[in-house]
Amino acid sequence: MYSLWQSWKPRPTSRSMLNDLSSPLSYLETRRSGRPRDMVAPGPDAAQLDAILQLAMRTPDHGKLAPWRFVKVGDRAAFAALLEKAFLASNPDARPAQIEAGTALALYAPALVIMIYSPKESRKIPEWEQQLSTGAAGMNLLHAAHAQGFVGGWITGWASYDATVSSVLCDERERIAGFFYFGTPSFPLDERPRPDATEKISDFGG
Ligand SMILES: Cc1cc2nc3c(=O)[nH]c(=O)nc-3n(C[C@H](O)[C@H](O)[C@H](O)COP(=O)(O)O)c2cc1C
Repeated sequence: MYSLWQSWKPRPTSRSMLNDLSSPLSYLETRRSGRPRDMVAPGPDAAQLDAILQLAMRTPDHGKLAPWRFVKVGDRAAFAALLEKAFLASNPDARPAQIEAGTALALYAPALVIMIYSPKESRKIPEWEQQLSTGAAGMNLLHAAHAQGFVGGWITGWASYDATVSSVLCDERERIAGFFYFGTPSFPLDERPRPDATEKISDFGG
């Protein structure tokens, strides 16, 4: 195992090579999220979005608790109105431009799904493991969107932590795990710095 990771070198990625779907390995080597605010049509249609959600649910999940759920945001105007109400509750003196900037995330990208962390009562499975499964489901959402030829992006932003927004979307035990946007990048994607393997991978007993 040791020699395997030492000899494997990530493929240098140029813009045109990002999200290369020619093989599973090339995809994983070049996977890159998109910026939600820069996503344009085409995005997934209703059937493709449902397929993305189905695929995302094939996620490691100790105890089969499925401690996550997804909310498809079809009515963007209604969601923007919720964000505006929430934003004004926290920023009562906000100027129109600030409100517009604060609520813009309701309107990004052709498709929007909110992932909710929804822990289940369990004597056996700690909440930590349920949180890990939720993160894995989020990663899978991105993979599923990319596999369909779209780009995905995961952000939390202020709205994930806002009490007004959470009171509408979540029950008392739940939390917003993030907003997932799907579409087509309007600009070529750029690679971002990746961690150095020598700092992140160690060898027990080596
Ligand atoms: C849980 C979570 C929350 C995030 N929230 C934000 C956010 O609010 N704003 C932001 O610009 N990026 C946020 N990001 C980072 C974006 O997803 C970012 O574009 C990511 O680093 C892209 O990396 P990738 O190409 O490796 O997927 C978040 C990432 C995660 C995992």
